[in-house]
Amino acid sequence: MDKKKIYKIGVIPGDGIGPEIIQEGLKVLKVVSEKYEFNLDFIYYDFGGDRYLKTGETLPDSAIEEFKKLDAIYLGAVGHPDVPPGILEKGILLKIRFELDQYINLRPVKLYPGVWCPLKDKTPQDIDYVVIRENTEGAYCGIGGNFKKGTKDEIATQLDLNTRKGVERCIRYAFSFVEKRNRKKTLTVVDKANVLTYSGDLWRRVAQEIGKEYPSIKLDFAFVDATCMWMVKNPEWFDVIVTNNMFGDIITDLGAITQGGLGIAAGGNINPEGVSMFEPIHGSAPKYKGKNVVSPIATISAGGMMLEILGEEKASLTIERAIMKATGEGFIKSLEAGKMGMSTSEVGDLIAKFVEEI
Ligand code: IPM
Ligand code: MN
Repeated sequence: MDKKKIYKIGVIPGDGIGPEIIQEGLKVLKVVSEKYEFNLDFIYYDFGGDRYLKTGETLPDSAIEEFKKLDAIYLGAVGHPDVPPGILEKGILLKIRFELDQYINLRPVKLYPGVWCPLKDKTPQDIDYVVIRENTEGAYCGIGGNFKKGTKDEIATQLDLNTRKGVERCIRYAFSFVEKRNRKKTLTVVDKANVLTYSGDLWRRVAQEIGKEYPSIKLDFAFVDATCMWMVKNPEWFDVIVTNNMFGDIITDLGAITQGGLGIAAGGNINPEGVSMFEPIHGSAPKYKGKNVVSPIATISAGGMMLEILGEEKASLTIERAIMKATGEGFIKSLEAGKMGMSTSEVGDLIAKFVEEI
């Protein structure tokens, strides 16, 4: 009898370069699952721009119900040049994050050896921290509207929602993450508490309160504007950052470029008690679609993160080591589209080969 563990993974390749990068991610996942003897059962979903243009449907509620039975979701990218902005983002990506209550967005900022870094004199030792972004509320809650739209008296409101429950579970996750990571033992709460005094006060109070349960962790507070500066000037100061949805969105693009760009930055949308979704943090890059020139490393890395959360830590570590070998030993010339010195599928082959060999 086959006693191997089986994980049911929903795969959404999506739009643009999504399918080609997901293919490489799946290639590596298959190899690593054979090596460590677990089964990955992939269930494919065609949600994305093409389906929307054909059917008018983004993501039906029935799909959410199906997703709830999965172990994880692996997403390429959504975003289509013929679909107005907001429809696929809100209708697919944010809908999954919200409906599956993936309240943590985990975004490591880690410079791998051999990867180009725009920060002068910074090395992999200096850039290695994690941003924990609240992922289900804040300015993303979708509450607000336009009043007297199109007139000179128009008013637009967009609510920044911060619930005690939402802030608390995010901060709790962050503290336990710092503890498990066991590095500098520092949690930095990033906010704008000098102006956004009400929400800032809630975040800071909750952090101080929960911090009492973690006396060995140093709790820091930093304003988001200054944080942007330090992420460039002194990234080595950071261990784990926790912040709201909007600030987390913005600072992780900055973080991504300091680790070599969107070709390598991965993220996990995590529901610690439910179904999580893993994705490269870049978009669908329609202009490169089908050209086999973009880096699949962010997607491969997201796959590694997925395995870690599923409890396959050795397999996850092996993927990370394989990526580090590919970047660190000069196999990949650049992470920029068309400049890698090899194609998307060749990078996937190379990392899959290293996974086998390590
Ligand atoms: C991200 C993206 C999304 C976000 C968009 C596509 C809705 O920028 O995952 O960072 O803002 O969260
Ligand atoms: Mn973003």
